[in-house]
Amino acid sequence: MTSIVNNQWYVAAYGREIGRDLFSRTICGESILFWRTEAGAVTAMSDRCVHRRFPLSESPSHLLGDTVVCGYHGFTYGADGKCVAVPGQSRIPRTARLRSYPVVEQDSFVWVFIGDPALAETTRIPRAPWLALDGWTTVSGMEPLAARASLLVDNLLDLSHETYLHGGYIGTPEVAETPITTEVDEDAGIVYVSRRMADAACPPFYAKSTGITGRITRWQDIEYTPPCLYTLHSRIAPAGVLPHDDGTDPDAFHVEVVYAITPETEHSTHDFWAVARDFALDDQGVSDFLAENNRTVVLQDVAALDVLERVIATEPDGYQELSINIDTGGLAARRMLARLAGAAPASAAR
Ligand code: FES
Ligand SMILES: [Fe+2]
Repeated sequence: MTSIVNNQWYVAAYGREIGRDLFSRTICGESILFWRTEAGAVTAMSDRCVHRRFPLSESPSHLLGDTVVCGYHGFTYGADGKCVAVPGQSRIPRTARLRSYPVVEQDSFVWVFIGDPALAETTRIPRAPWLALDGWTTVSGMEPLAARASLLVDNLLDLSHETYLHGGYIGTPEVAETPITTEVDEDAGIVYVSRRMADAACPPFYAKSTGITGRITRWQDIEYTPPCLYTLHSRIAPAGVLPHDDGTDPDAFHVEVVYAITPETEHSTHDFWAVARDFALDDQGVSDFLAENNRTVVLQDVAALDVLERVIATEPDGYQELSINIDTGGLAARRMLARLAGAAPASAAR
């Protein structure tokens, strides 16, 4: 059975990755071709010519105005995927059409809908507004993961691993020591996991970027909208400093750590990461530091999850795991993903 959840929106790319060059990425096992029309709209269609399957992203395939010309025998397709010209005859076969995908550009991401296009409601795309909002500065990237997407979901929903896997970057002892609270909003389809540390050491990631020298109040509020979008609302303030009664929070530093978890295949994943901050907005040194450090942290996760994928791929079916309190959020996410996939609920999903 496939572990990939169909009929869902997935992040396929950053908007900046797609221009007037032919760009291909495999999303949920489907090779998809992306390019921008002359007016700037993003298109998404199958990256396989209907004639002999030549990839339209491969040279010498090319764009000609708002059409893409197959580099093998010249079948030519419009922005909607419909074939508009074939060589040697004027009659174009009725079935000469590339599968096209609903696509939306939002919050700096390009989202595609994988599944039945009739079910593609754009209002269901989860939001990450900070990534393209005035008053925030964002650094971002994407790392390929040779592991199934569910391992990254597990990883991100349990941040106690920061203490061990990311010590010296974002981990301090208090992260693993502090209990979490988990809430599931079944109607909205969101898993929340919170860990609020009243008096914690400030890890280098935040000490260097904010300039705080002493101990901190550190809040980690996770919001995961299966299958694709994860946000960690991170609040950093000098120890004891809390938001005002009216909800304003001028003395804290806010960081929105956003991940888009997009299956490439059953056993590989596009790990999109972004770090948006509401301080030091024009400080390139802070941007460079956060970009380099977050990428390092992501690569620490990638290395661990790549190992884990190789190990569990060789485990006999029905292997046992042992879950504890820190896994509550991850287990809730698994149940929600299993339900979205139309699979058996709760217990069988574990
Ligand atoms: S494979 Fe594309 S035109 Fe023949
Ligand atoms: Fe991690």
